[in-house]
Amino acid sequence: MNRSIGIHDIEIGTTHHVVDLADLAVARGVDPDKFRIGLGQDQMSFPAPDEDIVTMGAAAARALLARTGADGVRTLLFATESGIDQSKSAAVFAHGLLGLGADVRAVELKQACYAGTAALQMALGIVARNPAEHVLIIAADVARYALDSAGEPTQGAASVAMLVSADPALLEIDPVSGVFTADVDDFWRPNDSSTALVDGKLSMSAYIDALLGAWDDLQARGGVTAADIAAFAYHQPFTKMAAKAQRRLAAHLGAELADDDLVAMSTYNRRLGNSYTASLYVALAALIDARADLDGRRVGLFSYGSGSVGELLTARVLPQGGREDRSARVSRMLDARAPLPIAEYERLHALSYPSGTDTETPRTTTGPFRFAGIRGGARQYEHIG
Ligand code: CAA
Repeated sequence: MNRSIGIHDIEIGTTHHVVDLADLAVARGVDPDKFRIGLGQDQMSFPAPDEDIVTMGAAAARALLARTGADGVRTLLFATESGIDQSKSAAVFAHGLLGLGADVRAVELKQACYAGTAALQMALGIVARNPAEHVLIIAADVARYALDSAGEPTQGAASVAMLVSADPALLEIDPVSGVFTADVDDFWRPNDSSTALVDGKLSMSAYIDALLGAWDDLQARGGVTAADIAAFAYHQPFTKMAAKAQRRLAAHLGAELADDDLVAMSTYNRRLGNSYTASLYVALAALIDARADLDGRRVGLFSYGSGSVGELLTARVLPQGGREDRSARVSRMLDARAPLPIAEYERLHALSYPSGTDTETPRTTTGPFRFAGIRGGARQYEHIG
């Protein structure tokens, strides 16, 4: 019999700052309801100058490891779209900040927002090969579009850390998944650009094509049927996208899919904004934190990364404690963010730290790690708590 493998624990991190989308709407001369109702977004997290994917990701991982310990961790996988170096992985920076042993391998994975799921698949394979090993996954992103573009209200920033193990406490992942890959120019970010280029409408139809294609592949490979799935969690570039996706999936299946899960899984993402690789796993945490009735039942997880790769996983939620604790922690973290006036947000949006100049960043973050600046072309990080 196959051994149970899956997600043992999950933790969420975010940035020091937050932008209120009602303020952004006023500044852009748009009806605030377009963002609140039309996109389903209330706020977006925004990094301080001394924060990035490494500080956010390491902070979530530190909180996770404080509960689970690092014993058995032999691999650290870091999934991101917003990498901070073309060669050295964000995983190695995080490995150093977390004080992991030299016997823990570290690598970064990229395929737009899908890479968190690629990391999960890799982790499941590693644990299947040696069930004594644990894999630490960090998925962290800063979603960045040009000022005053259609994508601007769908920015955001967050991280998740997940421990993958045999006999997990939280979620047992089914061995069969559905996959859909298609070469499409819906969203990409050239090496010389700090903001994404996107064909918004194409990206939405490419997302739906990937969802339905991945579903059909799941069925063709003997995966679980719709009747076995109690709720779905989706990648959420903006939370309304999940509602559109669920409607299209229901029509494809000729079945009713209840809307309760949409509200539950959107609570964290409505306030974080898009977090690319982290987004689906933020939605998953919100769903299981809000729905104790899912214990022992199956959920469907849809991961989408523009360009494009989609994957539909199914998993059994294990009866577990701690959901109230995580929900309270996330609420406290979101409430504690410092609001950014729009003029200051625009200033920070334009800020960059070119590698050719030695710089020190201003001390702003209250997180446990900070990006201290550039020295000799190399990024410097430090512990602050
Ligand atoms: N009150 C209520 N609703 C309103 C409104 C108002 N006053 N004004 C407009 N709306 C509604 C519209 O009717 C529309 O709803 P429907 O889609 O249900 O019809 C919604 O608000 C959005 O309005 P528009 O379609 O006019 O919005 P837009 O064209 O300005 O921008 C967008 C929307 C294309 C998604 C843009 O935000 C964008 O480009 N975002 C980045 C790309 C993206 O997120 N794509 C998603 C799929 S790709 C992916 O998933 C990968 C990833 O993470 C990027």
